[in-house]
Amino acid sequence: GIKIVTIGGGSSYTPELIEGFINRYHELPVKELWLVDIEEGKEKLEIIGQLAKRMIEKAGVPIEVHLTIDRREALVDADFVTTQFRVGSLDARAKDERIPLKYHVIGQETNGPGGLFKGLRTIPVILEICKDIEELCPNAWLVNFTNPAGMVTEAVLRYSNIKKVVGLCNVPIGMRMGIAKALKVEPNRVHVDFAGLNHMVFGLNVYLDGESILDKVIESMADPKNEMTMKNIAGLTWEPDFIRGLGVIPCGYHRYYYKTSEMLAEELESAEKQGTRAEVVQKLEKELFELYKSPDLNIKPPQLEKRGGAYYSDAACSLINSIYNDKRDIQPVNTRNNGAIASIPNDSAVEVNCIITKDGPKPISVGDLPVAVRGLVQQIKSFERVAAEAAVTGNYETALLAMTINPLVPSDTVAKQILDEMLEAHIEHLPQF
Ligand code: NAD
Ligand code: G6P
Ligand code: MN
Ligand code: MN
Repeated sequence: GIKIVTIGGGSSYTPELIEGFINRYHELPVKELWLVDIEEGKEKLEIIGQLAKRMIEKAGVPIEVHLTIDRREALVDADFVTTQFRVGSLDARAKDERIPLKYHVIGQETNGPGGLFKGLRTIPVILEICKDIEELCPNAWLVNFTNPAGMVTEAVLRYSNIKKVVGLCNVPIGMRMGIAKALKVEPNRVHVDFAGLNHMVFGLNVYLDGESILDKVIESMADPKNEMTMKNIAGLTWEPDFIRGLGVIPCGYHRYYYKTSEMLAEELESAEKQGTRAEVVQKLEKELFELYKSPDLNIKPPQLEKRGGAYYSDAACSLINSIYNDKRDIQPVNTRNNGAIASIPNDSAVEVNCIITKDGPKPISVGDLPVAVRGLVQQIKSFERVAAEAAVTGNYETALLAMTINPLVPSDTVAKQILDEMLEAHIEHLPQF
């Protein structure tokens, strides 16, 4: 039987994962699912664990659920390790989003200064997990969701001995679903050629039943009636002529780069009115855990759809299923480039369509990205690499460099102000500084 270990098991997203394993049990027979959390997350872990057991009992599949705060106990002989933890919890995310706003800079927990600090807190922990994997389950696949997923995958490839690592995100599936919805067709008829980086991914071409429909999709993106965004990103509409000029399909997160001033205004306004996204999610999370506690609940509640991570478990479970069964289907994942995108180094992480085999993802070459987007993608890759280096070394100048080269940060002086305030605010979770 298969042994899965999920680190950050107390996440409110976990019922999605449970549902994914239940639905695939006939071809992916999970014997043991170990949910791991830390002392501070014990209460959440317990609630999630009980709900998971009720869901599994209702479905009538023989999956054993184990709950623990002893990561090393859990990891012994694991086949797949999924990671979905948040160092410092949503309180830390609220700081990531709020502090930069004081300096009129978008915080954003994955793309801007917020993403830098989430990386600085997360990377030392993921590298410790990698060491445990090496020792306790050296054949396991590490499937990482923890954001910033691109930077975290880059750090694992560069600074650990783990080769069997895949980074995942729900943005590509979300784009495919959004396109299918706009065209009013079944999602499984739509195929998208994805390439770029995490939260910086483009649809280079789109097919319906094998015929390219890129022009039609570009027109529907340009149409303000089709909002096509995710729950966590304000759906500001694109300039139709910009989208036509771009000629490829941007992801929701591209709004932070191509509509920076409008997104900043939006974030300032909503931070004042209803709180930053972290603060909104804190309330949502309380509601969700109240629901999860109910002894009558034995399915994934629809209220979970208010979180941004819709379909994330589909991505995780489909990936694990295809590795386990050597399916050789195509899925967009974060993996070592190996030449798939010409202008990105071979040894860097990219988010690109791959053939998923028992030996992992085999990236499909796209040649190169269109010249108009190539530079930004390279800039974000530079940011991820410098940020990962800062996370590993704890070097102040490297951290300042990462902050300054982030496209959302306007100057070295503003970067230093934000960096200093955030270092102080997060110091308890930054032992390397
Ligand atoms: P959350 O705040 O509920 O955190 C999940 C759990 O992690 C918590 O129960 C917390 O106690 C635990 N945790 C913190 N530090 C830990 C550690 N060192 N070891 C083990 N557990 C630890 O977070 P969430 O909103 O459910 O999100 C979880 C993570 O998944 C975040 O990093 C988020 O960015 C990421 N995420 C990624 C995607 C994606 O597209 N890649 C989608 C959704 C969520
Ligand atoms: C999307 C992104 C994730 C991110 C999530 C935030 O799904 O792909 O990487 O973690 O949104 O959603 P939230 O509900 O936490 O704001
Ligand atoms: Mn994501
Ligand atoms: Mn800058």
